[in-house]
Amino acid sequence: MRTVTDVEAMQSYAEEARREGKVIALVPTMGFLHEGHLSLIRLADEAADVVVTSIYVNPTQFGPSEDVDQYPRDIDRDTTLAQQAGTDVLFVPTDKAMYSQGYQTFVTVENLTRGLCGAFRPTHFRGVTTIVTKLFNIVRPHISVFGQKDAQQAIVIKRMTRDLNFDIEIKVAPIVRHEDGLAMSSRNKYLTPQQRSQAPVLYQSLCAANKMIEEGERNPNVVKKHTKDMIEAIASSKIDYIEIVNAETLEPVREIRGNILIALAVYIGKARLIDNILIKV
Ligand code: PAJ
Repeated sequence: MRTVTDVEAMQSYAEEARREGKVIALVPTMGFLHEGHLSLIRLADEAADVVVTSIYVNPTQFGPSEDVDQYPRDIDRDTTLAQQAGTDVLFVPTDKAMYSQGYQTFVTVENLTRGLCGAFRPTHFRGVTTIVTKLFNIVRPHISVFGQKDAQQAIVIKRMTRDLNFDIEIKVAPIVRHEDGLAMSSRNKYLTPQQRSQAPVLYQSLCAANKMIEEGERNPNVVKKHTKDMIEAIASSKIDYIEIVNAETLEPVREIRGNILIALAVYIGKARLIDNILIKV
């Protein structure tokens, strides 16, 4: 595995690989890698000849009250893990290379970014779609892999890829969880031991919602209320949202029917955790 920090060097590597007829897969990350990220890298490795994993803590997707400098980082550990999982090139650009002085160009996906996390983090997806566009232009992948953990992000990226005619196949990998059900996340690091022991309630509440629906409940408000009550029993929790939406349009549903996404964002202590399940009714 080689590490590349220079944008031009990454572009010429990608050009060369393409000339040789190789299939390139990109796995964009913000580092502090865990099994969730590694599952994406392994999937990319199965699908492509060259796997590029990017590590970049993108400042434009953090809001003014969110501290980008506090985001956990461990590049040495990430380098070992990324290599073991099948990365060929670790792309680690600098802030200066990604957002040069005078930078003023952004990519925005409209309706899909208004609800769910977009309602609470109004500039977040603009930052994500902008950095992913830049990574697509630098790495020139044929395939790019994202996680279902960030369900809205995956749908927004798919929409952007279609809308802007990127010739890239977007693959979405399932959520990797700890044994107790908590979805793996770099942000779990912010949890105290007590909060960590409480955090599995998020997945448990989604499973309880699923069970209610399996048993015939079709009213989203009834299901949301039950989910909310389970989470609010945890003292240190603060709910941003629990939504039941159409899995393609992300519009809230009036009746639970078809392909449904139940998504939530909850603060446990100072960690804002997200989780979701897909249900076909
Ligand atoms: P980051 O949070 O580092 O996540 C990188 C990728 O890993 C995302 O596609 C995310 O959905 C996936 N992922 C995270 N936890 C996962 C889990 N438990 N199971 C499966 N996949 C998981 O998402 C971002 O970074 C950024 O927004 C980025 C796309 C890199 C743009 O800056």
